Amino acid sequence: MQSLPSGYRALVIGGSGAIGGALLASLRADARCACALSLGRTSTPAVDFEAPASIADAAQALSGQGPWHLVVVATGMLQGATGNAEKRLGDIDAQHMAASFAINTIGPALALAHFAPQLPRDERSVFAVLSAKVGSIGDNRLGGWYSYRASKAALNMVVKTAAIELARTHPRAVLAAMHPGTVDSRLSAPFRGAQIGRPAEAAAGDLLAVLDRLDPADSGGFWAYDGERLPW
Ligand SMILES: NC(=O)c1ccc[n+]([C@@H]2O[C@H](COP(=O)([O-])OP(=O)(O)OC[C@H]3O[C@@H](n4cnc5c(N)ncnc54)[C@H](OP(=O)(O)O)[C@@H]3O)[C@@H](O)[C@H]2O)c1
Repeated sequence: MQSLPSGYRALVIGGSGAIGGALLASLRADARCACALSLGRTSTPAVDFEAPASIADAAQALSGQGPWHLVVVATGMLQGATGNAEKRLGDIDAQHMAASFAINTIGPALALAHFAPQLPRDERSVFAVLSAKVGSIGDNRLGGWYSYRASKAALNMVVKTAAIELARTHPRAVLAAMHPGTVDSRLSAPFRGAQIGRPAEAAAGDLLAVLDRLDPADSGGFWAYDGERLPW
């Protein structure tokens, strides 16, 4: 990341995922990056978005190691133990929708709440959250996937709202909701991700290149991996 100070420090929440892992590898290969740490359900400290206190505890545990010039939240859930992505209204399940919001919206919101104070105040910083184009209300043409779409749309609102607040205390910070494109991963596997998705390494390179170019004036925006601004 050329736009961040030499010796910058990075944190990837969700480094065990396909895109998070590729982001981590790319940052660790960057000579300008002094430290790239991964947080997740199996790290120490552990962060589990279904256990909200773990987010505050991890931020507390890491507070002496910042400031963090780059934070990427690369976690996400489309389907899993609570159910599959809905095809129709009748498929909506309260537990699955609640789990989707816990992992896709509330977890990243709490990560913002607890880690944004650890961004540097007097240097450039970037806080990116992986969203999804299907969370765009304006772009929704196909329907379905109620829980995932709604939880990502809500996530986008959290990012936009936080950017307004953070601009007052951290005028050089950039917050961004990012769409990585279709990527081969565990999340996309049930939807032919291996066939139609790009390798995570390609997505990570594209995402970092876009983040490198964003200005504080862009903070709070929703961007695709190719630099296109996406409609809310
Ligand atoms: N792949 C695509 O085509 C695509 C398209 C659009 C958007 N995205 C978005 O990109 C992001 C990354 O997706 P991916 O494709 O890399 O998926 P992935 O390989 O399945 O990775 C998902 C990550 O989320 C973590 N996670 C899941 N539940 C969690 C929880 N309760 N607490 C903490 N971490 C949790 C996983 O951790 P564990 O290892 O512990 O399970 C893993 O690190 C997601 O936000 C996704 O919505 C992906």
